[in-house]
Amino acid sequence: MADPAAKRPSDQTVNPRGSGAASSEAVARAARERSEQERETQPLTAKPSPSIRARSEPASGQYFEAEPLAATAPRTIAVNISGMQLRFVTDSGVFSPDRLDAGTRLLLLEAPPLGARDRRVLDLGCGWGPIACVTGLRSPAAEVLAVDVNERALRLAVGNAEANGAGNVTVAHPDEVSPTRRFDRILCNPPIRVGKSALQGLLAAWLDRLAPGGRAHLVVHRHLGSDSLARWLEQRGHEVTRLVSRSGYRLLDVGPRGGESASPRPEPAAGRAP
Ligand SMILES: C[S@@+](CC[C@H](N)C(=O)[O-])C[C@H]1O[C@@H](n2cnc3c(N)ncnc32)[C@H](O)[C@@H]1O
Repeated sequence: MADPAAKRPSDQTVNPRGSGAASSEAVARAARERSEQERETQPLTAKPSPSIRARSEPASGQYFEAEPLAATAPRTIAVNISGMQLRFVTDSGVFSPDRLDAGTRLLLLEAPPLGARDRRVLDLGCGWGPIACVTGLRSPAAEVLAVDVNERALRLAVGNAEANGAGNVTVAHPDEVSPTRRFDRILCNPPIRVGKSALQGLLAAWLDRLAPGGRAHLVVHRHLGSDSLARWLEQRGHEVTRLVSRSGYRLLDVGPRGGESASPRPEPAAGRAP
């Protein structure tokens, strides 16, 4: 499979649906994780990583950098999930480049399916695009927006949506998304390693874009602060339910701040969070 990053110049429109589906913010730039071994996910072109840490993070730099320091090393992996057999191009410098992260798999398998009214979907921190692609393929009527700050990840996500036929997936840098845009569903394997303050800011900004009745589903390992994150969200005014707890991961169901009709509560003091 060709490397989508190589095919797309940095300033190219990256909506895999083509021009008809491109909305203003959906015109994106192309320039712009500890697990049990995934039985169904096999690297096809890369050697297995030597350690859990190396599976999830690049050798140099951080996976959430805008322009990763790690030299590009494209590879193709197979992901079998829910009866779908997909292939993704990944690369160094992005999250979990050699396999579908176990937390991501849990989210994809256990998060409640989209309802008929759940059309506006956000994949927050899309990486190379597994959540967006699987969700888009499962729910063709949905409009799936995938955002990330890692330019390499954005390029990969564009190519992967295209290659897997997920025509309802649009990829964008967060800065390109209208602040007035609302979502019926937010799916997220959060970038815990950005640090508490940045993580809180990220989640606060996007969870406030949940539409009334909308839900967010977050997967976080307990060793990475899932329980304190849940407490912080509750303090912030979100209804939080732990849907699944497995292999250390927690799948959290999060409602809009203050519920659908109640007034939002004040921000909790920073420092109580994960
Ligand atoms: C734990 S990874 C999950 C990636 C992908 N969703 C998956 O499951 O494989 C979190 C992602 O969030 C991205 N990220 C970090 N800070 C961000 C921000 N401020 N806005 C959007 N995405 C961000 C990182 O670049 C990374 O790709």
